[in-house]
Amino acid sequence: MHPIESLVPSILLLITLSLLMPSSSSEIYYRYTSCAPYVYICGTAKLNINYPFRVDGRPDYCGHPGYYIACSKDNASMTISINNKGYQVKAVDYLNHLITVVDQRFVAQPCPRPYENTSIDYSLYTCSDRDRNATLYIDCRALPASLLAGVYEISCAFNGTTRRRWYYQLSQGIHSNLMGRCNSTVMVPMHQTTANDLANKKLNFGEAVKEGFSVSWTAGNGWCSDCTNSGGRCGYDSLSPTSHACHCQNGAAITKCYKGTFVDT
Ligand SMILES: *[C@@H]1O[C@H](CO)[C@@H](O)[C@H](O)[C@H]1NC(C)=O
Ligand SMILES: *[C@@H]1O[C@H](CO)[C@@H](O)[C@H](O)[C@H]1NC(C)=O
Ligand SMILES: *[C@@H]1O[C@H](CO)[C@@H](O)[C@H](O)[C@H]1NC(C)=O
Ligand SMILES: *[C@@H]1O[C@H](CO)[C@@H](O)[C@H](O)[C@H]1NC(C)=O
Ligand SMILES: *[C@@H]1O[C@H](CO)[C@@H](O)[C@H](O)[C@H]1NC(C)=O
Repeated sequence: MHPIESLVPSILLLITLSLLMPSSSSEIYYRYTSCAPYVYICGTAKLNINYPFRVDGRPDYCGHPGYYIACSKDNASMTISINNKGYQVKAVDYLNHLITVVDQRFVAQPCPRPYENTSIDYSLYTCSDRDRNATLYIDCRALPASLLAGVYEISCAFNGTTRRRWYYQLSQGIHSNLMGRCNSTVMVPMHQTTANDLANKKLNFGEAVKEGFSVSWTAGNGWCSDCTNSGGRCGYDSLSPTSHACHCQNGAAITKCYKGTFVDT
């Protein structure tokens, strides 16, 4: 064999090894390191924090603006603000991009009474297909039995002074013939499974409301999984807010990590 030819396999091996192993001079990119999965502790509750969520104690470039989770002042629960309204965080499902929340005001109430529609911020979230709406009829004159098919009274909401009553319905559509008897209607989102438990009377209305509902976050849609699958950690670059910042071991990247990406920050 020609001497040069005998060298080829070992040269290939050397090239392969140098591609696989970081050279001793290269450092792990600091944003990759500081965006490692983080356990946020609030009182007795723990939550795994990953993109797009931000918490105190972790750099902002690990999350996305608008997804800030805080610990309540009494250390009792984790909270998030959606359209300037406070919600308690019940669960985060990173696989399906779902966060389950409940209106903070309802948590400690024995008889929660949602007076307003839930408005979510569509620049950050979409509705979840695991949810459905219950329709609430608020401050109604007592309904005659003929109007009660599929409509149930929330007995704890009865107002003895005004004699006004609250009702809910799980079927679709608003009973227009109830409208003249009630002051307003409100849509209350809840999990399908919760709605089933409510229908089967395993839960009452207040308990169902306190189970919360889910919204799906939109940050990272279409690229964060590419970043993660390439070994990176999704993040945010305040200097280039719309770019798909992927923090890689070997440096900053857009959308996903490549071999040879180098630190430029
Ligand atoms: C909440 O927890 C923090 C950190 O453990 C502690 O410093 C603070 O005093 C606690 N606050 C209350 C109101 O318990
Ligand atoms: C529930 O009602 C809200 C407000 O009317 C609406 O935006 C949303 O799409 C409804 N959700 C479902 C699952 O029907
Ligand atoms: C009954 O309705 C009146 C008038 O809206 C209100 O001031 C009062 O707080 C209500 N009582 C209860 C128990 O909700
Ligand atoms: C229902 O609406 C009417 C008219 O807007 C108002 O006068 C009344 O106080 C309301 N009733 C209750 C119980 O809120
Ligand atoms: C809630 O939304 C429904 C339609 O989605 C609307 O008919 C109703 O008037 C709204 N209620 C309030 C209190 O704004």
